[in-house]
Amino acid sequence: MSDLLELDAVCAGYGRVPILHDVSLRVGRGDAVAAVGANGVGKSTLLRVVMGEIPVTSGDVRFEGRSIAGLTTTQRARAGLGYAPEGRALFPMMTVDENLEMGAFRVSRKVRDARANRLLEVFPKLSPLRGRLCGLLSGGEQQMVTIARALMSEPKLLVLDEPSTGLAPRVVGELYGALARLHADGLAVLVVEQNARAALRFASTAHVVEDGRIARSGLAAELLDERTLADAYLGRVRALTTP
Ligand SMILES: Nc1ncnc2c1ncn2[C@@H]1O[C@H](COP(=O)(O)OP(=O)(O)O)[C@@H](O)[C@H]1O
Ligand SMILES: [Mg+2]
Repeated sequence: MSDLLELDAVCAGYGRVPILHDVSLRVGRGDAVAAVGANGVGKSTLLRVVMGEIPVTSGDVRFEGRSIAGLTTTQRARAGLGYAPEGRALFPMMTVDENLEMGAFRVSRKVRDARANRLLEVFPKLSPLRGRLCGLLSGGEQQMVTIARALMSEPKLLVLDEPSTGLAPRVVGELYGALARLHADGLAVLVVEQNARAALRFASTAHVVEDGRIARSGLAAELLDERTLADAYLGRVRALTTP
């Protein structure tokens, strides 16, 4: 059976400025894959390519074995890609419930409500906040809504951009705990993070992105263990991301 997501020698950028060079990676069904790297190396660009927000200049993006390079972002969402973008792109003047509703499409109210109720079990902290405006929530709560909204369409693959940014370590732990439970229930996840430790603890396979290229790939646990990586990269990033 084909992998869920395959990037094959992808090059992409903004206008004429190339950012990603020859990026290949795969996410199998039920996999948890992390791509970690410092600020500005191209992690968000990579996810924008996956979601169709920017086109590939060469290479291919396949989902369930077929090229999606020509599909729009909406078509990719319908094909089974759920996206929680950087910076918690919620509707701040809408409630938690209303934001969740925006994540579901082509389903009845009954199905939508059932999905929302199930996700509120995954993120129990959101339950008492359903009627609250998202703009008034804490950073961690907003991140949970962003992820729950991406899951409202019942995607096959959840694509996450820096879910831990700006969150206290305890909240990062809670968030990744919820992701681990979703993953254990069979959800495939592709997460990019500057906070390498949290992502590498969560993922099974990992890639290190440097200057728009995949510099290292391996088992997440191995990358987490490697002293060279820890010295060269994690230490630097930890200093930037851990209060
Ligand atoms: N909309 C854009 N237009 C032009 N350049 C961009 C745009 N977005 C990001 N870049 C550039 O692309 C590079 C990679 O950015 P990005 O993918 O956001 O990195 P990361 O997510 O790893 O921090 C950076 O040099 C950034 O300045
Ligand atoms: Mg980014």
